[in-house]
Amino acid sequence: TTIHALKNTVLKSHGRPPWYGEDGQPISDAFVIGIAGGSASGKTHVARQIVQSLGSIPTVVILSQDSFYKRHTPEEVALAMENKMDFDHPDALDMPMFTQCLMDLKKCRQTNVPVYSFQEHQRLDETQYLYGATIVIAEGIMTLQDPALRGVYDLKIFVQADSDLMLARRIRRDVKERGRSVEGVLDQYLRYVKPAYDNFVLPTSRYADIIVPGSDNHIAIELISTHVRRQLRERARRFRPKIVSRRPTGLPL
Ligand code: ADP
Ligand code: C5P
Repeated sequence: TTIHALKNTVLKSHGRPPWYGEDGQPISDAFVIGIAGGSASGKTHVARQIVQSLGSIPTVVILSQDSFYKRHTPEEVALAMENKMDFDHPDALDMPMFTQCLMDLKKCRQTNVPVYSFQEHQRLDETQYLYGATIVIAEGIMTLQDPALRGVYDLKIFVQADSDLMLARRIRRDVKERGRSVEGVLDQYLRYVKPAYDNFVLPTSRYADIIVPGSDNHIAIELISTHVRRQLRERARRFRPKIVSRRPTGLPL
């Protein structure tokens, strides 16, 4: 097992491509999981716990919405440095690009994911290349926002945590990892993060198939991975005849 951890995206690979037929074309879509929840609720952590819990699944990609903040003008960067940019409105994210990358991965196509710097408040020039996986986990505060996007997921999760816990985690993380000051995090939180959570993020919990606690969630993770494994087994049963008949040699499935 190799885990390539680059910024927000993790690719776990056992080196076997998913669902490919004899002609090299994918036979089935990837299984797509959407994880929403407030900032620092534990979405990334839940995504990684699911990957760990799934164990022997060939390939899992985590696609983080954090990678899809729009490119900013120098004026916007200056405002961001003073914590006066609203990054919690749905318009702050490049949703068409996020949807495109997610659809590419769902259809087992390769894709290029933008790389975003939280220190610089800017999209960088580099991109990250990702290729098809059996399971794609999309996580971000706005993953359940768009009705069309909600139709893409096979499983929708909302990570629920108390606001004080999210704020405490955010202060600690943003100071340690995103180059912020406590004062700055608090300003931004009161001005933008908290109102947006109440107005845009929390209401999307109603679309989730399952609400997962943002802490002490081992049983919920186990239930999710059992469900996903069962879904994949059913898919494999459905597609197995097709895969076998299209395989040129007796390659093991
Ligand atoms: P999100 O992706 O929702 O912004 P993260 O998963 O990055 O949140 O978590 C934010 C912080 O909270 C991280 O520092 C992480 O270590 C911590 N954290 C997340 N989930 C848990 C958990 N179940 N138990 C303890 N700490 C957690
Ligand atoms: O990883 P997480 O879900 O916490 O990321 C979302 C948060 O990132 C948003 O609440 C937004 O305020 C924050 N953000 C930021 N600076 C940026 C871009 C986003 O603090 N330049």
